[in-house]
Amino acid sequence: MILDPVVADYLEAVYPASDPILAEMERQGAAEGVPIVQRDGGLTLALLARAAGARRVIECGTAIGVSTLHLARAVGEGGHVVSFDVDPDRQATARAYLERAGVADRVDLRLQPALDGLKDLDGVYDLAFLDAIKSEYAAYTELVLPLLRPGGLLIIDNSLMSGSVAAGKRVSGGWAQRDIDALRELNAALVARADLTTIVLPVADGMTVAVKS
Ligand SMILES: C[S@@+](CC[C@H](N)C(=O)[O-])C[C@H]1O[C@@H](n2cnc3c(N)ncnc32)[C@H](O)[C@@H]1O
Repeated sequence: MILDPVVADYLEAVYPASDPILAEMERQGAAEGVPIVQRDGGLTLALLARAAGARRVIECGTAIGVSTLHLARAVGEGGHVVSFDVDPDRQATARAYLERAGVADRVDLRLQPALDGLKDLDGVYDLAFLDAIKSEYAAYTELVLPLLRPGGLLIIDNSLMSGSVAAGKRVSGGWAQRDIDALRELNAALVARADLTTIVLPVADGMTVAVKS
C-alpha cells in the first residue's frame, strides 16, 4: 500500500506462500472485505514476537484471526494470546480457524470492546498489538504500557494509513481525517517518549514498534 509497486511486487514474490490455513483466511478476508494484516505485516508481527521471546501477548482487533494466528504460532505451546473484538461472527470464524490450526488452547478470544477489556487485564505481558479502532489507539497505549515488561513490545498497525499519515490528509484508502490526525499525533508522541524506543516501520500499511525501557 505504501511501497513503490516494483518493490511491493518483488516482496510479494520473494516471501514464501502462506500455508493452507492462512491462505484460506486471506482469501476469505479479501472476498468479504475484512481488513486483515497484510502478508508482510503478519511476517513482521511473527518475527518481532519471536525475537522478543514473547509468551504472553495482548491483541486489540481479532477480526477473523489472521494476526491472532501469527501471534499464537509465535508464542509457542504454553504461550497465551488474549484478543479482543466486538463482532461475534468474526470471532466465531477466528475461533474455528484457530482450532483447525491447533492453537486454540493458547488463545483467549474475548467479545468485548478493547477499552473495557484492557482495564480487566493484570499480570505481565511481552507484546501488545493494536489493530482495532484507530482513534482509540492512544487510549489502548496508555492501558497496555503498564502491563508490558521492560523490553516488551508495543506494535501498532496502519500507522501510515496508505501514506495518508505522512501527507496529513487522505491520499488513498478510506481513512477518516480524525484517524489520520490521531496517528500523526500518536507516532510523534511515541517517538518523543524517553521511556520507549520507537520506530515507524514502512512495512505493510505502516507498523509503529516501540520497545519499553
Ligand atoms: C483491522 S480489523 C483487525 C484485523 C486483525 N488484527 C488481523 O490483522 O487479522 C479491526 C477489528 O477491530 C474490531 N473492533 C471494532 N471495534 C472494536 C473495539 N471497540 N474493541 C475491539 N475490537 C474492535 C472490528 O470488529 C474488526 O474486526
